[in-house]
Amino acid sequence: MVFQEFLSRHHVTEPIVRHANTGSNESGSHGHLHIQVTQDRVWKTPGRKCPHIWWTIPPVHILRKKYTTSITMSKLPNTGTTIFTIMSNMAHDYDAINLSQGFPDFSAPTELLELINQHMLAGHNQYAPMPGLPKLREQIALKVDALYGRNMNPETEITVTSGGTEALFSAIEAFVHPGDEVIVFDPAYDSYDPAIRLAGGRPVHLPLMAPDFSVDWKQVAGALSPRTRMIILNTPHNPTGAVLGSDDLKTLAEIVRDTDIILLSDEVYEHIIFDGRRHESLHYYPDLADRSLIVSSFGKTYHATGWKIGYCVAPAPLMLEFRRVHQFVQFCVVTPMQFALADYMESNPEHCHQLAGFYQEKRDHFARLLDGSRFRLTPSAGTYFQLADYSEISGNEDTEFTRWMTTEKGVATIPISVFYESSPEQHYIRFCFAKNESTLEQAAALLCKI
Ligand SMILES: Cc1ncc(COP(=O)(O)O)c(C=O)c1O
Repeated sequence: MVFQEFLSRHHVTEPIVRHANTGSNESGSHGHLHIQVTQDRVWKTPGRKCPHIWWTIPPVHILRKKYTTSITMSKLPNTGTTIFTIMSNMAHDYDAINLSQGFPDFSAPTELLELINQHMLAGHNQYAPMPGLPKLREQIALKVDALYGRNMNPETEITVTSGGTEALFSAIEAFVHPGDEVIVFDPAYDSYDPAIRLAGGRPVHLPLMAPDFSVDWKQVAGALSPRTRMIILNTPHNPTGAVLGSDDLKTLAEIVRDTDIILLSDEVYEHIIFDGRRHESLHYYPDLADRSLIVSSFGKTYHATGWKIGYCVAPAPLMLEFRRVHQFVQFCVVTPMQFALADYMESNPEHCHQLAGFYQEKRDHFARLLDGSRFRLTPSAGTYFQLADYSEISGNEDTEFTRWMTTEKGVATIPISVFYESSPEQHYIRFCFAKNESTLEQAAALLCKI
């Protein structure tokens, strides 16, 4: 196996050579280097030991320096491959059931797929308008009004984006200036931190409080400074399944009242909320909504994460700035999908109302299946994720544990420590239950044997 292949099989993106010696090694073949390869970011949490792999390679592979350090100087030196890619690749390599990355293993509605086909064949394949197809923006405005009672202007206050990810990125780049601070709650979705850093900002990571992963608002108030530019919220929350309540948002309103702080509200799981709860969207709270950019994702709502279409809603002055960035990040979003989504939203307005019940059944089914296991599930109030405490099974770090589960036990999951800047001592992993019953049953059968 050549070195590159070895690295990619073991999901090592940026090898660090810890120690090298020429002329001798354990395998006895002269002229080889003996190196310790360490995954740089993803497996590393402050204060923890990095897992490592020993490998022997011909010296020429690392001695030949192709680029000087200044040419390759990274803007994100501590960023490796995302954990989602790593675990999905590992699931594939080891033929494990993939409950790691958050995507359904069932299809988007057939009618929606047919509409895309029709629009492609009808020639709707050229650039769409920069802020999004007018009909789609109108449908979004109708939906925001129907669900949240907020009247937004599709011309000036709604932009269709390349997934929630692009909306988050464009919002951060548009508003965060060099030296600005942005409050992020850990465990945090992994795109926030690098987007803040690319804007020259400083992420201020505050921990959510286990076991219910609630926000410590006193800590938030104490973390504010004159440089605080933005607070990023995520409800329902990935990876924990926690949701914000109305009291949280009232407290937040108090905290930001006399400031210019902008709120970026990641609500991509807005429709996936359980046990009869209301999704406490920032759309409901005028004091907050006036200073908010609110992000949604069609990928989550229509079981089609690979389409990467979402949207951002914000008052016109904020949206103006947002679009200044969006037009150079993405300019516009894939046209036939926009036509199809607009038609489908018009003819199936009930779709989003069915998601909560649909996923609640999956959550409950999966929980019942794991009843006899040694995993302790934390309540999941929303999203299609379930946290589980594995401390009855192992005291190992979650990165080690998930690697072992994938390679030895046949089920891939996500370690939670990678969503922290500084991970506390805890033993949680994340399951994705957006899967067919048969997938959940097969996975649970393996999990119950651990
Ligand atoms: C919390 C959160 N925000 C944003 C995104 C990105 O959404 P999209 O796939 O539409 O880019 C995800 C996707 O997993 C997510 O979990």
